Amino acid sequence: MFSKFRKYSVALLALSLCGSFCATAIAKEAEKEPWWKQAVVYEIYPRSFADADNNGVGEIKGITSKLDYLKDLGVDALWITPCYPSPQVDFGYDISDYKAIAPEYGTMADFDELLAEAKKRDIKIIMDFVMNHSSDKHPWFVESASSKDNAKRDWYIWRDGVNGAPPNNWISLFGHSAWKLYPETGQYNYHFFYPEQPDLNWRNSEMRKAMYDAARFWLDKGVAGFRLDAVQALFEDPKLPDNPVKEGKNQYGDPNTEYLHNDRLPEVHDVLRELRAVLDMYPGDRVLIGETTGSDIAEISKSYGKNLDEVQLPMNFIMAYINKLSAPEFRKRISEWDKNPAGGWPLYFFSNHDQVRHFVRYGDKIHNEDIAKLTAAVLMTVRGTPMMYYGEELGMQNNDPKTKEDVQDPIGKIGWPAEIGRDGERTPMQWNSEINAGFSKAKPWLPVSPDYKKVNVASEDADKNSVLNFYKQLIHLRKTEDALKNGSYETLDDHNPDVLSYLRKSKDEIVVVALNMTPAPKFVQLDLSANGISADTAEPLLASFDAGSESLHLKSLKLPAYGVLIGKVN
Ligand code: NOJ
Repeated sequence: MFSKFRKYSVALLALSLCGSFCATAIAKEAEKEPWWKQAVVYEIYPRSFADADNNGVGEIKGITSKLDYLKDLGVDALWITPCYPSPQVDFGYDISDYKAIAPEYGTMADFDELLAEAKKRDIKIIMDFVMNHSSDKHPWFVESASSKDNAKRDWYIWRDGVNGAPPNNWISLFGHSAWKLYPETGQYNYHFFYPEQPDLNWRNSEMRKAMYDAARFWLDKGVAGFRLDAVQALFEDPKLPDNPVKEGKNQYGDPNTEYLHNDRLPEVHDVLRELRAVLDMYPGDRVLIGETTGSDIAEISKSYGKNLDEVQLPMNFIMAYINKLSAPEFRKRISEWDKNPAGGWPLYFFSNHDQVRHFVRYGDKIHNEDIAKLTAAVLMTVRGTPMMYYGEELGMQNNDPKTKEDVQDPIGKIGWPAEIGRDGERTPMQWNSEINAGFSKAKPWLPVSPDYKKVNVASEDADKNSVLNFYKQLIHLRKTEDALKNGSYETLDDHNPDVLSYLRKSKDEIVVVALNMTPAPKFVQLDLSANGISADTAEPLLASFDAGSESLHLKSLKLPAYGVLIGKVN
């Protein structure tokens, strides 16, 4: 309700700024649910998705060439990790120009073509927006570093050292001191990540304007929104107090510290509100997805904003990191996210380019494919927006580097062997069983996983029981069953230690989902009367095993190991 009111206010503001056409478009949208509530979002790591020019590194044209595949899978929006010019120290998360395309990924014309081709297929493009830091090769930083009195000095964080040492004990998330000394000016520069990723100073209003201007550049082109990188780290306490030191050492050998004074500062919310207001000036329900961490749901859900006026889709890493198949744990985590205190719309994901693929984290090496289908079923049938990582629809697994010499990701070089880096989850997409899994004719920048002869799009397309075809069926169901689109989420059989069961209930339809999270067959008795439903049978809609076509008796359901059963209540 409030958000509708808010949109009308934005429409009024838009009327004054961009005329009646724009305002009418935004006001009309206030009437309908935003597209991102129903969408399936798919993350693409451009280096690894498809290599159209066969040089071993994927690019924009590669993505464009695979749009029909993505459409057929049922994807509605692509989140593309950074494809801006960059020295690639952190593979694109070190940006040297916020308004251009990296030459190794193509040209702006290639990007425009991607947008246009995606639009023809009703697929939206979401860019990665790296607001916390730029590259040290960005002209802003080069200027800032050039002298203490440069006009851009304050766009970054510079401080004097203390007795020949860094200004305080802050440790970079990527290892060692968060301060790098620049002898030219004798001052230290602050970096939450690599030294080559200096933090932007969000207390500087000119810099702030320049970043919003960069956001507008892409919004004007028609991108559907942004995934906000490391957004919690935008601010630091200007007094620079030391962070509390905890017991033990991190994977890089530094003392463990609590990021008390340089992470999740309240000022972040002012920026999120401002950026959201920038997006809300555009028609089309542009969306913000936040890389928002927090130690509990109350904290993560702060990123929705008190009036749902910040990030529409915060990423809940607590849910993504459950890391064990446990019905009680999933039940608890889904329920708390579904009923988050902000009343925001949930986003769910299990894998991304920074985390070991969930096929490995949840797999038991015996039932891996069944487990991949089960986690897919969670993703596609709970109330919320699912976000997938390229290749998860195949059951792709990590292909981790075996030696330090093989590592590309700098954190793997700094922290080897305690930290092996993130190469393993970033290997080339597996398209077919030909050379390099059909990703490229040249040697790929990271080695293809050895399982590619079996785990690839072409083979799985041809196998009706594959993980890929199960994803397709699930996505199709999500789009066709009203209860899965619009229904409430209600847990069933709340104390069952093994099977997670729930209802999705809309005005016209009730769908029941039962997921056996154990390696043994299980019987379940689902009694819907406490949910005000007298029916005790359902028609099978989709199962990961042969569930037959007869009506299901909800009071005696049999599920095989890691079995998934979805039915429509009669
Ligand atoms: C989070 C990104 O997902 C990760 O890949 C990157 O290294 C850091 N932020 C720094 O930008």
